[in-house]
Amino acid sequence: MIYKKEVENTGFVSKKIPINIDLKKEIQKLKDEKNAVILAHFYQEDDIQEIADFVGDSLKLAQIAQNNSADIIVLAGVHFMAETAKILSPEKKVLLPDLNAGCSLADSCPYDDFKAFLEQYPNHTVISYVNTTAAIKTLTDIVCTSSNAQQIVESLPPNEKIVFAPDRNLGAYISKQTNREMVIWDGACMVHEEFSLEKLLLLKQQYPEAKVLAHPECIEPILLVSDFIGSTANMLQFSKEDHAQTYIVVTESGILFKMREANPHKLFIPAPPNDSTCACNDCEFMRLITLEKVYNTLKYELPEIIIDEDIMKKAYKPIERMLTISKELGL
Ligand code: 13P
Ligand code: SF4
Repeated sequence: MIYKKEVENTGFVSKKIPINIDLKKEIQKLKDEKNAVILAHFYQEDDIQEIADFVGDSLKLAQIAQNNSADIIVLAGVHFMAETAKILSPEKKVLLPDLNAGCSLADSCPYDDFKAFLEQYPNHTVISYVNTTAAIKTLTDIVCTSSNAQQIVESLPPNEKIVFAPDRNLGAYISKQTNREMVIWDGACMVHEEFSLEKLLLLKQQYPEAKVLAHPECIEPILLVSDFIGSTANMLQFSKEDHAQTYIVVTESGILFKMREANPHKLFIPAPPNDSTCACNDCEFMRLITLEKVYNTLKYELPEIIIDEDIMKKAYKPIERMLTISKELGL
């Protein structure tokens, strides 16, 4: 079929959409007709978050992917999130509107290099952040997200040796929080490493009453001047419960949509990156998902996430282990 070929070449269905149609309405119609759900990450554009059935952090998206009765899941997020949804719900059709929506952090941990690295550390338990490929998860004992990384590490006996991958900043932060030494893979997210400490300090001077909220993928100097460190969901929760009126938010700017929606009278300021041509830090991969691509994805049921059976089975175990531990802890 012509659209399959197109997807092979470009990663998405680029079929032209009539300009006079109401995309949001049409997406809703297609969802109802096909018993489909749209799961969106907090880093998606506002209009994608508006049409989504669920918006959440990577832990929540995995939990919802495992427990819903839809026939089709459209993952408005990045590739590793869609892969995780497919691994947890292999009987469902999982669609990612643009296969080019990757992740710099997942890319910083190639399979062959990581396999060779692990050979140096036998008898270690391997904890991998969910921001990895399905192949990396086959080399992993327990997956974690930024919402549960600390609890996952703490769930292991104190003398257990741990390899933590792939994010060096999250790894260092969790090692400090838990007071445990870990072997940490040297990977990072391009977006979170780009925040400028210098500009953040200037903003703090400008808004002395503001609290700084940061994602643990940021570099340590940023974390040291932050008032709250947590996953996207935890930052959002904090912004609802806390009594300050102004916040500087050091993570991808998509999260500001939900923060402002939940706290219309508070001021949220995106922290600036080093690059002075832009005022906020956007994840270029997250931004590849558009309403047009969501519409075409639902209409043509492409591009579909297909994973090798053996990889699916092996990658399921560490994800399932994470979900079981999280459930026991009420996360
Ligand atoms: P969360 O787990 O907080 O959703 O973060 C995902 C992510 O990609 C961070 O860059
Ligand atoms: Fe990956 Fe960073 Fe984008 Fe998150 S913000 S999806 S870690 S590249």
